[in-house]
Amino acid sequence: MTGAGVSAESGVPTFRGAEGLWEGRRAEDVATPEAFARNPRDVWDFYRWRLRKLADVKPNPGHYAIARLEQKSEHFWLITQNIDGLHAAAGSQNVIEIHGTIRFVRCHECHSRRDIREVIDEELPRCQKCDGLMRPAVVWFGEMLPPAALNAAHEAIQRCDFMLVAGTSGVVEPVASFSYWAKNNGAKIIEVNVERTPISSIADVSLFGKSGEVLPQLIGD
Ligand code: OAD
Repeated sequence: MTGAGVSAESGVPTFRGAEGLWEGRRAEDVATPEAFARNPRDVWDFYRWRLRKLADVKPNPGHYAIARLEQKSEHFWLITQNIDGLHAAAGSQNVIEIHGTIRFVRCHECHSRRDIREVIDEELPRCQKCDGLMRPAVVWFGEMLPPAALNAAHEAIQRCDFMLVAGTSGVVEPVASFSYWAKNNGAKIIEVNVERTPISSIADVSLFGKSGEVLPQLIGD
């Protein structure tokens, strides 16, 4: 299971902390359905800015190590909170994007999807089918997780005997509870982070360091 920290060494800002994405910005102003209803242009400006920041980023050794772990494993699921698509770019296949993806937009009304690159230059993208407002296909605060992703995550957690948790602060629910569920189901937990998190208290092993350095050492070639 991964969070923003695994993409930090690719140059993608994390959410919390000194230079975090939410630092100096209220998530409620740009990442809630209410913000989108109130001022869709501001929300779109924020996501256009994020997409521009993601344009040139590449997977780092941590992403590649996780992709290698999948190749070595008989059964493997990657639950990621990241919307940046870098795990897939590194070759990960069984990826559950539990907070959605920035690569697609979906219609606020009829839910039809399009590649975000097709609409990114429109100030306020509209649906070709129903003329509803299009929005990034990400999960905002106060929204349900995508049911298919949530079901897949539940199944993965039920069957999990070993969970590697990398680069997440472990404070955003419900994902924050996933490692607790896995632990209660008997899974071993290994955490990789640059600092202690709430997950450290239940982890069987905590490895403190950058995921781009620790994961390749842990997983090998
Ligand atoms: P956070 O920004 O909350 O946490 C990033 C974590 O990565 C922190 O625990 C850092 O210590 C750690 N970290 C930073 N650099 C690292 C590195 N190089 N190697 C290893 N760890 C490093 O990001 P998330 O936990 O992903 O949700 O945040 C969860 C959710 O909160 C996001 O998906 C997003 C956000 O609000 C939505 O937008 C719905």
